Amino acid sequence: MNSTRRQAQKEQVAIAALEFVRSDMVLGIGTGSTVNCFIDALAASGKHIEAAVSSSEATTGLLKSHGINVKELNLAGTLDLYIDGADEFDPYRRLIKGGGGALTREKVVTAASRKFVCIVDESKQVGVLGKYPLPVEVIPMARSFVARQLVAMGAQPELREGFETDNGNLILDVHNMDLVDPVGVEKKLNNLPGVVTNGLWAIRPAEVVLMASDEGVREFSE
Ligand code: 5RP
Repeated sequence: MNSTRRQAQKEQVAIAALEFVRSDMVLGIGTGSTVNCFIDALAASGKHIEAAVSSSEATTGLLKSHGINVKELNLAGTLDLYIDGADEFDPYRRLIKGGGGALTREKVVTAASRKFVCIVDESKQVGVLGKYPLPVEVIPMARSFVARQLVAMGAQPELREGFETDNGNLILDVHNMDLVDPVGVEKKLNNLPGVVTNGLWAIRPAEVVLMASDEGVREFSE
């Protein structure tokens, strides 16, 4: 898919997600180019939200540039809704996320939210997760140890060069991880000392995926 079509789909799905937003909400907001379209669409819609809880410094910057009030999660309690993108989604709305490196805060805000509406263009749809390299955030001193454990699991970790997360950590992009059992892999990675977060959303998939295509926006939910 060329970049103009993809951009048009991102803008289309961003507008569709506005349907889920109520004016009195404290809304969780993710990170990435699709979410940036959503923030722009939210600002342009004139819909007023009480505040947003942001998943990254980049998102916080864009929200503030639109005059949207940003609230710390510690002061917000449970959120009704979280809107974020993904790098892949499967038929069970399980995701790979973290291409933008914001996976840890994204997973925290997901967990703090009652409903996660994931917004994607059609290039993100897969039958089985795993073509996109799986991001794993690690504390710097554990980088090599965790990489060896990933190799022992049959995968090929690659350090994301020149990148530091908002939490001061590193990202290993993991190629060729067998993800036929994504829940099992997510649990296993969660248990590796030195791993902060992995980019699998399988234990808690998105409740709704909105996918834009040239035929319109399709909703996947239970
Ligand atoms: C950032 C993410 C993003 O949601 C994911 O990378 C998709 O980004 P984009 O909307 O730019 O394709 O998980 O950490």
